[in-house]
Amino acid sequence: MTNSACYIEQPNLAMIGPQQFDSVTTGLLYSLLGEYGVVLFRGCMRGPEAFSNFVASHSSRLSLDPARTMVAGAAQLVDAGVDAVGLHCENGNSPFWPDITWFYCADAPRKGSQTTVCDGEVVLAQLSESCRSFFEENDIRYSRTVPGPKWRRLVCHYTPGLDDPALVLIDDLLRNVAEGAGTTISYDPKTDEIGYSFVVSAIQRSSFSDRGAFANSILGPSFNYEKPLIDTASGAPIPEKFLAEIETVTARATRPVGWQDHDMVMIDNRRVMHGREAICDTRRRIYNALSYR
Ligand SMILES: [Fe+2]
Repeated sequence: MTNSACYIEQPNLAMIGPQQFDSVTTGLLYSLLGEYGVVLFRGCMRGPEAFSNFVASHSSRLSLDPARTMVAGAAQLVDAGVDAVGLHCENGNSPFWPDITWFYCADAPRKGSQTTVCDGEVVLAQLSESCRSFFEENDIRYSRTVPGPKWRRLVCHYTPGLDDPALVLIDDLLRNVAEGAGTTISYDPKTDEIGYSFVVSAIQRSSFSDRGAFANSILGPSFNYEKPLIDTASGAPIPEKFLAEIETVTARATRPVGWQDHDMVMIDNRRVMHGREAICDTRRRIYNALSYR
């Protein structure tokens, strides 16, 4: 199958139907992701086990969100309340930033309640010169605390042979983030909490597209965690006028996925931000998985 075998419903979204689904290769998926940033599989997926298997077979390794419940090895049920969720890259405010975020919609909402996507390449092209320059010259800093059970679970996931959170040491965590520049971690043995700050550019270059994109978590809340403090690496705040501009430009570039039952999307998590409309239809069962290319 070639790229042209997939029909495109809207800009920046490649669609694969059930007839094409059985013959997709990882190479084709990565090339579509590089071109469009989002691949929608229409009506292709049957159950969280099949979803998990598909994600695993097209990824080098899996990631997880330690605040969510795991289903079938890779899938995690999205359960972050009913409020709207601002645009973000999944775990893009931490050194555990996966390359691909996947959603599988077992039961689609009949009205509203959509997952939304926003192509950071489009946003970057539409930012004013002064706003773009600001983010090129100033890295963003996310700071927050994470309670013991969550960071311990994450370390277990990333450390072969270590599966009891009670046995995890702070050095085990430090070993897992040692390679990542820009991360500072402190540990409070009294509360078992860690405090971390993660410094990173708001403009990323995706390995799928090899093009720059405004891709970050500046606008996204953090439902399962303490809300991070977001400022710049120098400690200065992000100017209000630039926050207002990115709100306006990203809102204009944001599209609903348009869920139908059994759909799945694959999103370039270093290029395309995602969010969610407020949930007004509780007939909505969506799973998430995170992975590396
Ligand atoms: Fe998310």
